[in-house]
Amino acid sequence: MKIDSVIIKKNIYYLIDNNGRVKKFKPWLGDIFSFLYDRIMEKSIFPKKFGGDINKHFEILRNEFKSICDKNILEIATGSGNAVYFLNRDNKYTGIDISVGLLQKAYKRLKKNGFKNVKLYNANACNIPFDDNVFDIGICNLSLNFFNDIEIFVKELKRVLKSEAFFYCSVPIPEKNTKKNKIRGILYSESELKTIFERHNFHFESKPYENGTLLYFSASLSKNK
Ligand SMILES: C[S@@+](CC[C@H](N)C(=O)[O-])C[C@H]1O[C@@H](n2cnc3c(N)ncnc32)[C@H](O)[C@@H]1O
Repeated sequence: MKIDSVIIKKNIYYLIDNNGRVKKFKPWLGDIFSFLYDRIMEKSIFPKKFGGDINKHFEILRNEFKSICDKNILEIATGSGNAVYFLNRDNKYTGIDISVGLLQKAYKRLKKNGFKNVKLYNANACNIPFDDNVFDIGICNLSLNFFNDIEIFVKELKRVLKSEAFFYCSVPIPEKNTKKNKIRGILYSESELKTIFERHNFHFESKPYENGTLLYFSASLSKNK
């Protein structure tokens, strides 16, 4: 999907549908709870559901992104703006999320932490509102399991990424969920993820980190091959 028309309200971009109305999405966590998001993550998700450790999670991401500068980055499911914990400020940052409350939180946090070039869109991961071949890097943390149709998401991701771009993802996987904690959404095994990404011509590489139920992986593109 390309951006046809958008309006900006309080620094957030909203998509306009064919009838001239603002497109609405049902947020994963009621928007009313978005101010509690970080507390919920710390108290009920990390380590309760995911095992592992939230600080280790950011350390891993910082390590992966330390040399990434001056790139055009798309984060899918921005959440409350946790990119501030691992991304260098000189990157051009675009984020999408279905939750307006979290986007508002993210905008304040990203700006407060020195990100100068930030654009946040209220949009769905399975219908990414940008032109083809725009971004150098895609990121998606702790969210892939919430997307309705992973095949459509990966197709959309491939479309908006440039030809030699890469995607970085952290996601809970069932085989690491040894305590059988109840994790929301659809969980895919590492081999299922590999198969899906390879079907769309990504080169899939899992990372050797251990952090509870989480798999860290990258998927790089070579559209010209
Ligand atoms: C557990 S949070 C993770 C947020 C952030 N990436 C982080 O690491 O803190 C899941 C996020 O996915 C978003 N989300 C869920 N389904 C989505 C979809 N279909 N498209 C875009 N965002 C979605 C939610 O609104 C929420 O911000």
